[in-house]
Amino acid sequence: MGYFGINDKGHVTVRAGGPDSPELDMLDLIEKVRALGLELPVLVRFSDILHDRIQRINRSFAEARDKFNYTSDYAGLYPIKVNQDRKVVEEIIEYGRPFHMGLEAGSKPELAIALAYLHGGSGVVVCNGYKDEPYVRLALLAMGMGLPVYLVLDRPGELDTVLRVADALKVRPNLGFRVKLDAAGAGPWSESAGGFSKFGLTAGEILDVVGALKRRGMLDCVKLIHAHQGSQITALRAMEESVREAARYFVELRAMGCAVERVDMGGGLGVDYGGERNGEDDSVDYSLSQYAETFVSVMAEACEEADLPHPILHTESGRALTAHHAVLVVDVLDADVPRDAPSLPEFQHEKEAEDADDADEMAPETASLMALVDEVDEHNAADIWHEALALKGAFQRAFLAGRVGVRDRADAEKHLWRIAARVRDVAPQSLFAAESEEEENTVSDYVVDRYLANFSMFQSLPDAWAVGQRFPILPLQRLGERPSRLTAINDLTCDSDGCINQFIVKDGPKPALPLHPLNGGEPYRLGIFLVGAYQEILGDLHNLFGDTHVAHVGLGDNGEWSYQQVLPGQTTRQVLTQVSYDPHHLMNRALALTHKGDHNLGALFAKSFGEALDDYTYLTPEIS
Ligand SMILES: Cc1ncc(COP(=O)(O)O)c(C=O)c1O
Repeated sequence: MGYFGINDKGHVTVRAGGPDSPELDMLDLIEKVRALGLELPVLVRFSDILHDRIQRINRSFAEARDKFNYTSDYAGLYPIKVNQDRKVVEEIIEYGRPFHMGLEAGSKPELAIALAYLHGGSGVVVCNGYKDEPYVRLALLAMGMGLPVYLVLDRPGELDTVLRVADALKVRPNLGFRVKLDAAGAGPWSESAGGFSKFGLTAGEILDVVGALKRRGMLDCVKLIHAHQGSQITALRAMEESVREAARYFVELRAMGCAVERVDMGGGLGVDYGGERNGEDDSVDYSLSQYAETFVSVMAEACEEADLPHPILHTESGRALTAHHAVLVVDVLDADVPRDAPSLPEFQHEKEAEDADDADEMAPETASLMALVDEVDEHNAADIWHEALALKGAFQRAFLAGRVGVRDRADAEKHLWRIAARVRDVAPQSLFAAESEEEENTVSDYVVDRYLANFSMFQSLPDAWAVGQRFPILPLQRLGERPSRLTAINDLTCDSDGCINQFIVKDGPKPALPLHPLNGGEPYRLGIFLVGAYQEILGDLHNLFGDTHVAHVGLGDNGEWSYQQVLPGQTTRQVLTQVSYDPHHLMNRALALTHKGDHNLGALFAKSFGEALDDYTYLTPEIS
């Protein structure tokens, strides 16, 4: 990522303004935030990372334009949907001003934000999404006032509304077409591309719309082409194909007499969550420069062939702009550790077996398992583990057939635990070369600790739950120490889905994360990185765990860190109000209960109930 590192105390550090900026110890920062009375979980936002991302993206386009003699401008448009937080939007507008950054709106509330901030910025507003008459009217009125607003026709049916309202207001609209590209997208959201995509006009629909506008003498109103091939485009090749197709539409529309002067390739600039630049869903196979060069060079080539002036280029990168700037910091509260061989309690049945006459009449599968325990070494660990799992299957069949009994079964389990523990110790990665889901589950039963962390996946990492997205997770301390436990991370919700069991680790995604054993009551803090795009806003109130605290930190001119904003998370009172309870009413109902029973307990109950209403919705552990 380039922003985070490890210092000689083994703590995670951040250099939010890039490699030359001052280094901040994340643990120190968390202690300072806690000293303000904000317990974990806390979402930390780094304004300087946001700033740096904007600069990097714009620098890449500036270099690409120089390289390919591109004579027109590039201006990014921030898609508000990716993170609508006021401070984030205001910072993007401020940092984006020198680059003429604009905004993209996809709904009426987003349009309200975009228009209200127009006077503070210098970019344009592009209006996408489903549109009703009030949406269209507001956008057209803004255009009538001379504001740089563009209405994109996402569906053919929108034209009638736009023309009717424009006629009534006597406004000549700035129009764009969202074109439905055939180019296949690439990555987890590739269904936004191609014929089945929700939005966009097909070639035939474009001809109809162009015909209707031509009849009204309005071809000069068509100023923009928009194409969006889905978020997190993982392959540069897919991006290039899309730009090529969009460029063809640009050339064709110009030939039909439309005044297209802007080409907007939408979002999709991916984030390398896995850090391996391999084009898998967690990653991308290109750099920022390659992305910019592809867009610029393909457009330049198409314009040269058709002898057309270069259009202004737009992208609507949201994820690539915002993901890096936010880190969710959570405490691990507890560990649920499976029994493993070295710490196995002495089983009663072992003693019984020693005494029993039939002690050496061991089932063949059990004997084979036992023999494998001592064979495990670094080189054969994966093979032995697979063999052990095959024997486990054979054992199960024998048990069902009545050929082996419960005592054999207990012995077999014990040997399997021992093998798993040996493999974990000498070659942990081989445990995850699972050949089936069943094998994967077996691993987690035998060797994966369940670490309980103080957060809600549904509130803070909804994509991890909903679409299985993996985020980088790292302990903030003890990074000089080899992690010896393999873990899955349970959240606080009463939902078995509230568990992170897919992780980005070296050599690809794995169902367990190596972490350190917990040391008594010592805090153990995890950072969940790259969560600045989409997560908070898609999060929900499952189990009524509310918004987390947010600490917005930035680097002052003097190189010192300071809080730019600290927002306390939601209290129980606030989340209850959000689901239509009246906390006063609840308090009254609680007070009515105290008329019965012991007076002192009743008074304490009333006090605690009142305090609970103002408490953070997450656990407030007593960590020193
Ligand atoms: C029209 C449009 N523009 C921009 C974006 C932002 O995409 P990303 O976050 O991948 O840059 C989206 C999100 O999918 C979108 O639908």
